[in-house]
Amino acid sequence: MCSGQLYDTIGATYTVTRRTEPRIAARIWAALSDARTVVNVGAGTGSYEPSGRDVTAVEPSALMRAQRPAGAAPCVASAAESLPFEDQSFDAAMAVSTVHHWQDPIEGLREMRRVARRVVVLTHDASDTGWRRRFWLTRDYLPEVADLVAGRPSLAELARAIGARMEPVLIPWDCADGFFEAYWRRPEAYLNENVRRGVSVWTRVGPEAEQRAVHGLRDDLASGRWAGRNRDLLDLEAAELGLRLLIA
Ligand SMILES: C[S@@+](CC[C@H](N)C(=O)[O-])C[C@H]1O[C@@H](n2cnc3c(N)ncnc32)[C@H](O)[C@@H]1O
Repeated sequence: MCSGQLYDTIGATYTVTRRTEPRIAARIWAALSDARTVVNVGAGTGSYEPSGRDVTAVEPSALMRAQRPAGAAPCVASAAESLPFEDQSFDAAMAVSTVHHWQDPIEGLREMRRVARRVVVLTHDASDTGWRRRFWLTRDYLPEVADLVAGRPSLAELARAIGARMEPVLIPWDCADGFFEAYWRRPEAYLNENVRRGVSVWTRVGPEAEQRAVHGLRDDLASGRWAGRNRDLLDLEAAELGLRLLIA
């Protein structure tokens, strides 16, 4: 199943937990610099789209497009790998939490580079085992995440494809956007079905792994085992879990 189709299946409750996190948005918008025209690729329901600029969204999933709020930027039904725009049509192209879904991420990034003078991408290092070991959810409950990212291009390969520099983005403890790692200091959140349905990982690992992880976490929260293992997190305001801004 390609990812546009995946979101046509899982996207119905996306906006319950997924929205713009202002501190991360500030980083993205600063990286857009003085761009007046911006294309937002893999735009979903419109999170992180800047106001005060001329934005065009690109989103392959009809279900996601249908949830864009009234007054949101116009949205084109297309995929990153073949953007229906002339060369250099935009001052900047942005992509947030979407590159890991693309069938051909390198081609998609090259397309962004082709249609825009500046490229800003928020993503993860799929091939980096470091963050998966550091993040208790993947380390202790959901090791299957490793299979999902096997064979995907590394962040260095993505950056090289468009000549981007990389900046780490810390995840605040009270992150407003409920992506996979967002609740690193609020473990009870992962017991909530709505939280899990807002993140494709939980569907992609399958119901057996999901239920095993949720039961294991519930037991460890009740017994105090989670707190014993993760005491050091409780004083942190923000965590480095492999989130990166690519800027080219
Ligand atoms: C996790 S959502 C992120 C949406 C939005 N950028 C946000 O930050 O909330 C991932 C989005 O990528 C879209 N997507 C999947 N494959 C894509 C592709 N090849 N090109 C562009 N977008 C794609 C999905 O349909 C989905 O809307």
